[in-house]
Amino acid sequence: METQEKKRIYSAMQPSGMITLGNFLGALNNWNQMQEEYDCIFCVANMHAITVRQDPAELRKRCRDLITQFIAVGLDPEKNIIYYQSHVPAHAQLGWILDCYTYMGELSRMTQFKDKSAKHADNINAGLFTYPSLMAADILLYQTDLVPVGEDQRQHLEITRDIGERFNGLYGETFRIPEAYIGKVGARVMALQDPTKKMSKSDENKNNTIAILDDPAVIMNKVKRAVTDSENEVRFAEEKPGISNLLSIYSGVTGKTIAEAEKEFAGVGYGAFKNAVGEAVVAKLEPIQKNFKDLQNNKDYLDAIIKEGAQKAERIANRTLDKVQKKIGFPLTIR
Ligand code: TRP
Repeated sequence: METQEKKRIYSAMQPSGMITLGNFLGALNNWNQMQEEYDCIFCVANMHAITVRQDPAELRKRCRDLITQFIAVGLDPEKNIIYYQSHVPAHAQLGWILDCYTYMGELSRMTQFKDKSAKHADNINAGLFTYPSLMAADILLYQTDLVPVGEDQRQHLEITRDIGERFNGLYGETFRIPEAYIGKVGARVMALQDPTKKMSKSDENKNNTIAILDDPAVIMNKVKRAVTDSENEVRFAEEKPGISNLLSIYSGVTGKTIAEAEKEFAGVGYGAFKNAVGEAVVAKLEPIQKNFKDLQNNKDYLDAIIKEGAQKAERIANRTLDKVQKKIGFPLTIR
């Protein structure tokens, strides 16, 4: 295995919608902190995205917007690798190979497959089924140490470890076996109109989500309309999911603790509280939105970053792919 000083973290996000405040506080903001301490790779998982039908123009735009937002929130393309999955053919190549070391039985047990095939009953395609072996390829190609995963992706990390260990068992040490990265727990942001479910970028009800690129007026409005309760006390409690969610958001964007926030808003009505939450969100997102616009206006710079990211990713990925191909008996690729 190659020697590295820093541990390597691999993260990816699907271009399935505008990045929400939930993605930002739950993941991206932590990625931002990870980059100081780790060798980080950030991927736009556009190959996984086509396991459900996509509008081509929309998909292209979302991918571009996603990579732009990665950089706008502060991920440094010099220090890290930021790239599109589809730009590195090794993902598809290793994905296929790993398909041949993954069992139908294991794939059938994946809860995401069961959920998505129920949701898209008219399009239960083979890619949806083998989604986990492609994800295993993503992670294993980079000899990843750590993967920051939410609850919903834990099972996919488990199967990645199983596939990697199986391959290593058959052919000798080939892949580093990744572990879950348990970082500082980000805020768990819930849907504004239904605070018992997670805020999701693929939610069709736009009043449930705040996109990090939403206009300030839109953000203020969405926060004002967020579901609360019939009391009039700003307090974090299970039976007050709406207010608790707004407190988490406030704490997430200001860095204050929930207890500090509760104290700050003691005796304050919901209207004024919501105003303060909205303003804090707007203030936090303002510089990100400015960065985003600047990047959008700097097409050449962005294109250069994307190209360089793909090249850096490919160098690492191909090293692993070559090793795998050699072990299984494929002729050496002439590069
Ligand atoms: N499946 C992940 C999700 O939907 C995205 C993803 C693809 C990913 N490849 C990955 C996450 C590799 C971590 C590592 O959230």
